[in-house]
Amino acid sequence: MTVLVTGGAGFIGSNFVLDWLERSDEPVVNLDALTYAGNRRNLASLDGDPRHVFVHGDIGDRALVERLLAEHRPRAIVHFAAESHVDRSIHGPAAFVRTNVEGTFALLEAARAYWAALDGGAKARFRFHHVSTDEVYGSLGPDDPAFTEDHPYRPNSPYSASKAASDHLVRAWHHTYGLPVVTTNCSNNYGPYHFPEKLIPLMIVNALAGKPLPIYGDGLNVRDWLYVGDHCSGVRAVLERGRLGETYNIGGWNEKTNREIVHTICALLDELRPDPAGPYRRLITYVADRPGHDRRYAIDACKIERELGWRPAETFDSGIRKTVQWYLDHPQWVAEVQSGAYRDWVATNYGAR
Ligand code: NAD
Ligand code: TYD
Repeated sequence: MTVLVTGGAGFIGSNFVLDWLERSDEPVVNLDALTYAGNRRNLASLDGDPRHVFVHGDIGDRALVERLLAEHRPRAIVHFAAESHVDRSIHGPAAFVRTNVEGTFALLEAARAYWAALDGGAKARFRFHHVSTDEVYGSLGPDDPAFTEDHPYRPNSPYSASKAASDHLVRAWHHTYGLPVVTTNCSNNYGPYHFPEKLIPLMIVNALAGKPLPIYGDGLNVRDWLYVGDHCSGVRAVLERGRLGETYNIGGWNEKTNREIVHTICALLDELRPDPAGPYRRLITYVADRPGHDRRYAIDACKIERELGWRPAETFDSGIRKTVQWYLDHPQWVAEVQSGAYRDWVATNYGAR
């Protein structure tokens, strides 16, 4: 048996592939377009491993996907590939519609044709697992209950709107065509191999370089944070035992303001890599807010716990400590991802703030 993973060179996808092959010998075909966010170095430990077949290509390339399905006969598609950064979606939404909406559509169509032609057991076993985000639900007020799976969709950014659209397509392909799908909507992830354009890795790498730590607005926006390894175990649980056509929220029960996150990172760095120039929090700078910035996300992860027995293994304290330590231990990875294109992005996003 084999699984086809899309976006497996990105942050969560590469953690998923590494975890998967640590736990089983079931091969992975990894289809990734290697955008700025895809990084083959994340998978360097799998070089020469016959269980990992890396394919450089686009999920929107229907002929390629059909060929991969016909050749490898996967029992499941686990779909991580996406444009994933809200700030980039504000500067350039077209790529988000192309990959997240049109790309998911193309993948669904290829999956549907492949699945329809499977026989008996293989057809019954097949799964299309769509990996999505809590951001599709929109923003919560301070006292609102956390998002359940029944919360209305109210996406506010081009990113979340494109993910919401993809969720709707996946749902419709199940209801109309019977494609055996499951969808997971997860909160903010953090951990190893996180590209330093997102809050947590950006703060770690900037602090280590003595650069400003740019907090948007008043820094009181709230996110629920989940260690990436826990997201991977949640995806595995839903893939193996989730009910067809259902969605499952995955979250860490860890609501934190951005200020708390940055202060925690500074305190950990003060302990693990003290800076003779003084505490890292001296670098915190409040900058102009993100347009349309969602105030609060919170996940009610009761359904996945009740039905599938999944709970996160890491607390925020244990996960963030591991994460900061990982960045301290991998200066070469950090240096390599801070290419010219990365510097261009930093100038685009922070230059005018
Ligand atoms: P990422 O940006 O780090 O990685 C995305 C990967 O997809 C990259 O390797 C990229 O090369 C690849 N990709 C992009 N366009 C492609 C295309 N057209 N064809 C093939 N590959 C393509 O993203 P991530 O943070 O790892 O997120 C993975 C998935 O999880 C996304 O669907 C995202 O919406 C979802 N998600 C992310 C978070 C989070 O906190 N990062 C939280 C919840 C859900
Ligand atoms: P991010 O990591 O981009 O994830 P998302 O927007 O998908 O939740 O941002 C997390 C939070 O951190 C969000 O409220 C925006 C804020 N943020 C900053 O304050 N400064 C930054 O430089 C970045 C990248 C994010």
